[in-house]
Amino acid sequence: IAQKPLAGKHVLVTSGPTHEPIDPVRYIANRSSGKQGHAIAAAAAAAGASVTLVSGPVGLPDPDGVTTIHVESAREMLAATEAALPADIAVFAAAVADWRVADAAPEKMKKGPSGTPALALVENPDILATVAHRKTGRPALVVGFAAETENVIDYARAKLARKGCDLIVANDVGGTGVMGGDSNTVHLVTRDGVETWPTLAKEEVASRLIAHLAGLTGVSKAG
Ligand code: C5P
Repeated sequence: IAQKPLAGKHVLVTSGPTHEPIDPVRYIANRSSGKQGHAIAAAAAAAGASVTLVSGPVGLPDPDGVTTIHVESAREMLAATEAALPADIAVFAAAVADWRVADAAPEKMKKGPSGTPALALVENPDILATVAHRKTGRPALVVGFAAETENVIDYARAKLARKGCDLIVANDVGGTGVMGGDSNTVHLVTRDGVETWPTLAKEEVASRLIAHLAGLTGVSKAG
């Protein structure tokens, strides 16, 4: 078995939450820690890949040996992701905000007699779907994540088709604190079927996922 199964490959990973500004000091966010995405970037680097990690705001150090690009919002994440292409494998582990505030205020919003502000939201671009549907320069393997609280496999299958990716790593986030936690129970969902892994540390999920992807690209036999 090759020591560096992804040598010569470029792997792109998104990780963490996005922050969507309300005004210069306030934002909308979610509970993603970035642990899983950062672990995947580190595992890809350990497998010999050149790795670009596009990270939302997280409290984690940049992984060693990985080119890390820091962004805040979904639109910044999309721009940084497209700028990092081409890639052989792209793994979209970020918990991108579905919506942003339509008109973020240029100055800090103040309390006043006009009452409580109403936040109008607009949909953010879907980074995974945008990259997966590219006519040119689509990575050979496009991997998405799906965090669901029910019907995990069915929703993942639907997501695979809708987003145009090759594999969905689905996890059940109902109840136990997967977001921010150190372990993860995942199902690998492809058009051909489902593979369920035991509950594993996020680092172990990452290294197994990278080994699995190296096998799919057929490059694991090259080195
Ligand atoms: O639709 P949902 O948000 O559940 O899909 C999750 C998958 O899509 C993840 O891989 C996530 O990184 C990606 N995604 C994205 N851009 C969005 C929303 C989700 O890349 N705006």
